Amino acid sequence: MKVNKISPKTFSSKIFQMKGISKKTVEEHLKLYQGYVNKYNEIQEKLAALTDDDYSKANQVYSMIRELKTELSFAWGGVVNHEIYFGHLGGKGGKPSSNLLKQIEKDFGSFENYKKDLKATGMAARGWVWTAWNEKEEKLFNYLGDAQNTFPVWYAKPILALDTYEHAYFIDYGVNRASYIDAFFENLDWEVIEKNFDKITSSCQCPCQDEEECEEC
Ligand SMILES: [Fe+2]
Repeated sequence: MKVNKISPKTFSSKIFQMKGISKKTVEEHLKLYQGYVNKYNEIQEKLAALTDDDYSKANQVYSMIRELKTELSFAWGGVVNHEIYFGHLGGKGGKPSSNLLKQIEKDFGSFENYKKDLKATGMAARGWVWTAWNEKEEKLFNYLGDAQNTFPVWYAKPILALDTYEHAYFIDYGVNRASYIDAFFENLDWEVIEKNFDKITSSCQCPCQDEEECEEC
């Protein structure tokens, strides 16, 4: 099995100077992100080293392949979720413009309704909330996840990720998650989220998914 080792991303230095989400919280949180990257690489190596004996012992209660494949999805979720999350923090809040705002208004009625739904979903989630483009239904929706790898929704591609694990806010807010979510909104960089949305909904079908830069499109 091929091993694709990944490296941690470097994020904007602005994430260390946010209002309402402290540098300490971000520094500790990035250590967790690094941990997911490390574990993703480690699990891939262990999958590549599985023996015929391991394959023959595949079992739904306990087996090496079950453990590795279950935790691979958890580690990969931890990598991708945090890359979306830190990638769109460090901004000045506000609201999106152009295409994304129009789509939000179409699917939620108004930007305020969208925020209300995102915040309430965040209060109800045990791990994550993703605003994702459901390309089959052609609409945006705020999906709920209780862990890094729950609950995958086929055809849904995330453009925004809200971490609701306690580690994202406990240092700053204790159990007051609502205030953390308010701070999250105030530090969003909507330009990044708009780019995420434009890439996903672009008509460009080649791997770059960037019509402006792409010579193929
Ligand atoms: Fe996190």
